[in-house]
Amino acid sequence: MRLDKYLADCGIGTRSEIKKMIRAGRVCVTGREKLRPEIQIDENADVVFADGKKLSYQKFIYLMLNKPAGYLSATWDKRSPVVLDLVPEEYLHYEPFPVGRLDIDTEGLCILTNDGQLAHRLLSPVNHIPKMYYAEVEGFVNAADCRAFSEGILLEDGYQTKSGHLKVIEDGAVSKVQVTITEGKFHQIKRMFACVGKTVLYLKRIKMNGLCLDENLKPGGIRELTLEELEMLINGECHSAGGGNS
Ligand code: URA
Repeated sequence: MRLDKYLADCGIGTRSEIKKMIRAGRVCVTGREKLRPEIQIDENADVVFADGKKLSYQKFIYLMLNKPAGYLSATWDKRSPVVLDLVPEEYLHYEPFPVGRLDIDTEGLCILTNDGQLAHRLLSPVNHIPKMYYAEVEGFVNAADCRAFSEGILLEDGYQTKSGHLKVIEDGAVSKVQVTITEGKFHQIKRMFACVGKTVLYLKRIKMNGLCLDENLKPGGIRELTLEELEMLINGECHSAGGGNS
């Protein structure tokens, strides 16, 4: 890849700042002389220094955000705050975007990445990636509701959902439930409950494939995934030594 692209991916400056750095001799690639922005380097083999500091190249970024209510799952919006506003400056040069959409009032696990292939894999309906939510629902959620979710629900627009899993944690005037679905239709969980005559009062995504939301992350908190967590997200399970959550 080009040297200036490598340096930009490392987040050390803008393209024009990088050109100036190279010209000023502040960049060094072992075994290479006469550096120019357009020379090709091997990001896996070449060792690159900027201002005497060794750089380590990372192409992709994988972030876990505990999305707070009030933020759109988008990179930019004219009116509302977006999840990208919560991404620290140091990660912005990777150009991360949210994987899928949570409603503005939904909280919880939101993955941001610049890995388009992974995003596609997680979102493609053919892969049936399970997404688990905690919800608080107005009214008593009963066995008939659980059966209806498991059979799939005919939504008001005529769409027949795939089978979901509804588990009651606590029933009451406001019931606490866990719902798992493998699709991501617009307002899907709210609409599924609406079809059995109930209103979702609170919704939080707690798991995507094998990856659980880190409950130590406060709303608005964000951090990089560990390798084990990435494996849990991709494969639903972790084979790396000592890794994973359940
Ligand atoms: N289902 C919904 O209704 N809203 C979400 O944000 C996610 C799933």
